[in-house]
Amino acid sequence: MTIPYPNTQPVPAIAAVTPPSGASRPRVTFLGTGYLGATYAICYAELGYEVLGFDVDADKIAKLNAGEVPIHEPGLDELLRRNLAAGRLRFSTDIAETAAFGDVHFICVGTPQRADGMGADLSYVEASVTSLAQHLTRKALIVGKSTVPVGTAEWVEQLVGKHTPADLGVEVAWSPEFLQEGFAVDDVLRPNRIVVGVKSEWANGMLYAAHKGVFDLAATEDREVPLVVTDFATAELVKVAANAFLATKISFINAMAEVCEASSGDVTQLARAIGYDPRIGNRFLQAGLGFGGACLPKDIRAFQARAQELGAGEALRFLHEVDLINLRRRTRVLQLAADLLGRRSGPAGPDLSGTRIAVLGATFKPNTDDVRDAPALAVAALLHKAGADVHVYDPQGMDNARRAVPELSYEADIAEAVTGADLVCVLTEWADFRNADPGLLGDLVAGRRVVDARNCLDSALWTQAGWEYRGMGRP
Ligand code: UDX
Repeated sequence: MTIPYPNTQPVPAIAAVTPPSGASRPRVTFLGTGYLGATYAICYAELGYEVLGFDVDADKIAKLNAGEVPIHEPGLDELLRRNLAAGRLRFSTDIAETAAFGDVHFICVGTPQRADGMGADLSYVEASVTSLAQHLTRKALIVGKSTVPVGTAEWVEQLVGKHTPADLGVEVAWSPEFLQEGFAVDDVLRPNRIVVGVKSEWANGMLYAAHKGVFDLAATEDREVPLVVTDFATAELVKVAANAFLATKISFINAMAEVCEASSGDVTQLARAIGYDPRIGNRFLQAGLGFGGACLPKDIRAFQARAQELGAGEALRFLHEVDLINLRRRTRVLQLAADLLGRRSGPAGPDLSGTRIAVLGATFKPNTDDVRDAPALAVAALLHKAGADVHVYDPQGMDNARRAVPELSYEADIAEAVTGADLVCVLTEWADFRNADPGLLGDLVAGRRVVDARNCLDSALWTQAGWEYRGMGRP
């Protein structure tokens, strides 16, 4: 049945549906307990739902059941322990148990960039949906949350049809997530919108019931959470379009940084000045080392690949430029480092041999331990490749960084990293770095030179303390 939507808040009259398990509220499962699934599972228990998190990784499940969050995400540990204790939340590696438990199953597995191209690797989606479907014994709703190429929901529906008897009436829906690492708990409990792609009133009703906790919390806080009910394709596209827009905004301001560098303008003042226009807005207008992480870079690539397959490749060609602008920021830091150290750049880049460089920051942004596609770590590796002796410190990302790029030296704190350094590069804008005392650090280094790749330091303060300072897109 097609439904007479799309429409938005106020929430339309949505038919109440009884969960197939017979419970009063739908029991929810989250398949894949990575960043997305673990956060959702924990937060949905906090909203009062009966929750089961599933993963094939037994270590991760054992940790979660023991009250240990495998990632660094502010506030999540406490919520995990509280909800395990309350008995609303548990984790399992047993897919039959997961299938038997849930009314609404959220697919939260990863969709990384394919090894052989720019498109998304859907093998985890396929594996999780197939094994879940094979174990279902009653009606249920399977909801995709992973970021996927448009058309995936239709394909998942076919997969489910292939692996479940038609009389069970298992249905599929899509509901993208928008959580930002570092703010993930609030983004799940207090989202700025909920988007659902559905094909039936039943699916719409089940998804509404599965989100009612979010709407109820908003009502108690005198807020509204807009709901957009739409079709599969639009729901899938909303996510990649949002991320493409954010990536474009960041690369736009970094392109302005390049022009400022060529004309001795100051991109930080330029960003402030244009950001006062509410049509532009000042958020996501921070010029610096550019975007990284597990989402933005791979999502803009997968979006281009999918558009190409659909014959709409030209429409997204600008995203290729967005990607290139972003990657150029990394080589810019290398140039600034060479400049400050008085080294010449040849065709293969600068020769930094014999220099010692302190790298402050390894994660792709502050308040996370995530180093996936982290510009900071990529630059640290480039400096090392150019011959520098690189000493890294990051408040949360050390273990992940060490695993990802073992050839660098990792230090216990800021002081150890900068001691004896000819140059300090601030590559992630952690508060510890922003608030560091340039006078005290100046006593430890061999040379007072700093590259502020996130434009997060007070340049006047550092200059007064005798540092040679270079920012991004600044004179
Ligand atoms: C992003 C989206 O924001 C989120 O909605 C989606 O669900 C997942 O992808 P996240 O990957 O957590 O979230 O990071 P985000 O906060 O968006 O930052 C991405 C990158 O952009 C970081 O490397 C950050 O340092 C960089 N960035 C951000 C800038 O360089 N300048 C800015 O002004 C903002």
